[in-house]
Amino acid sequence: MKVAVVTGGSSGIGLAIIHQLTAQGFKAISWDINPPKEDVPFVRCDVTSEEAVKAALSQTQSQYGEPTILINNCGLQFLSPVDEFPLEKWNQLISILLTGTFLCSKVMIPGMKKNGWGRIINVSSIHGKVASPYKAAYVAAKHGVLGLSKVMALELGEFNITVNSICPGFVDTPLMRQQLSKQAELNQMTEADVASEIMLKPACIKKFTTTEQVAGMVNYFISDAAATITGEAFSMSGGWGMGQ
Ligand SMILES: NC(=O)c1ccc[n+]([C@@H]2O[C@H](COP(=O)([O-])OP(=O)(O)OC[C@H]3O[C@@H](n4cnc5c(N)ncnc54)[C@H](O)[C@@H]3O)[C@@H](O)[C@H]2O)c1
Repeated sequence: MKVAVVTGGSSGIGLAIIHQLTAQGFKAISWDINPPKEDVPFVRCDVTSEEAVKAALSQTQSQYGEPTILINNCGLQFLSPVDEFPLEKWNQLISILLTGTFLCSKVMIPGMKKNGWGRIINVSSIHGKVASPYKAAYVAAKHGVLGLSKVMALELGEFNITVNSICPGFVDTPLMRQQLSKQAELNQMTEADVASEIMLKPACIKKFTTTEQVAGMVNYFISDAAATITGEAFSMSGGWGMGQ
């Protein structure tokens, strides 16, 4: 049975990915700082610490076997104008979103190489391709994830390891709900107006993407149909910015 690690698998998109991978017969484990509220395999891990990531890998190997699928998904958001952005928050977002993706990939690549097959899927964001105000650290980190993905795709192709990214627009999760209220406060608008006039404004389809739809794209990147696809960044944003 193939073993998959999903960082941030205890909530939102990560949890939906765990459900779908499990349903397909994979052993999918959440690496998260918070335990899941339901009964899914869980290894406590703060992805910003190399020591913690190495310890989580050892525990995963001994409990479940060598992981050959990695979904770098965990994340958080913080909104502030650049000139007021606290350095501590900048460092925290870069560490979790970008350094965490680097560290988890770094420790798992040797096992994938030995296995002669591997899949790394990074949950970036449409903010890996475009910007929005007040999201300096998030946008910088998510652009960085796409750059890191391209480097890994180049290095790992010969080992039959693909590296792809998913770039969702807004997905209905606790992270998105928290942004909705913060944006309403920053812009002095109702949450409904933030949803229609800010979040979904650049999209052709004015609907939030679901966690299950993002998990479906993970399934595709793991499948044999995607065996020669690598280094790609696939948008799931309702068609953000098509008119620009
Ligand atoms: N929700 C959206 O609208 C949206 C859109 C585009 C991209 N994304 C990306 O999708 C990913 C998942 O987001 P979500 O909306 O499901 O969020 P979520 O808040 O529901 O889940 C995030 C998970 O990450 C975990 N986490 C946070 N810091 C961690 C750390 N240091 N180590 C390990 N785990 C940690 C949290 O405990 C949580 O379980 C994020 O990378 C996010 O940037 C989300």
